[in-house]
Amino acid sequence: MKTKTMITGIVLLAALGLGYVFLFSKKEPASGLPIVEVTVPALSEKASIGQTAFNENCAACHGINAIGQDGIAPPLIHIIYEPSHHGDQSFYLAAKNGVRAHHWPFGNMPPVEGISDQEIADITYYIRELQRANGIN
Ligand code: HEC
Repeated sequence: MKTKTMITGIVLLAALGLGYVFLFSKKEPASGLPIVEVTVPALSEKASIGQTAFNENCAACHGINAIGQDGIAPPLIHIIYEPSHHGDQSFYLAAKNGVRAHHWPFGNMPPVEGISDQEIADITYYIRELQRANGIN
């Protein structure tokens, strides 16, 4: 009798544990809220061209001015993406080949279809200008 009660207890506890894991291990829904604040400087002509290309190809995920969107994609105006850690080549590779999630819990970045080398160069120029205006060198 005692053994039966104990087994019932253990089974109940295990069920509770599983339920807990099931309920709370679920990913938070994407809030899309900005992740950083970005000061936008007066952009050079070249950076403005990059801004247009960025808004067309990247902002849907990375947010306007690359401020990031919680649950969707990281801000690129972030110390992680300073030139010494993510050189210009990493922007090129990200756009062409996509990115496997490694720094953030937002999933993979798919390749950006149909983007040209020139557009990527302009976008990178724009991001670097924003980064510098925000103390990321
Ligand atoms: C569909 C959503 C989406 C779009 C569109 C998108 N990205 Fe991303 N991007 C992501 C996510 C998510 C990550 C984070 C991956 C990780 O966890 O490190 C990322 C990461 C990056 C990185 C970091 C790469 C590295 O080596 O760590 C760069 C650079 C980048 N994106 C640039 C761009 C540019 C430039 C564009 C537009 C041409 C763009 N992204 C469009 C979702 C997107």
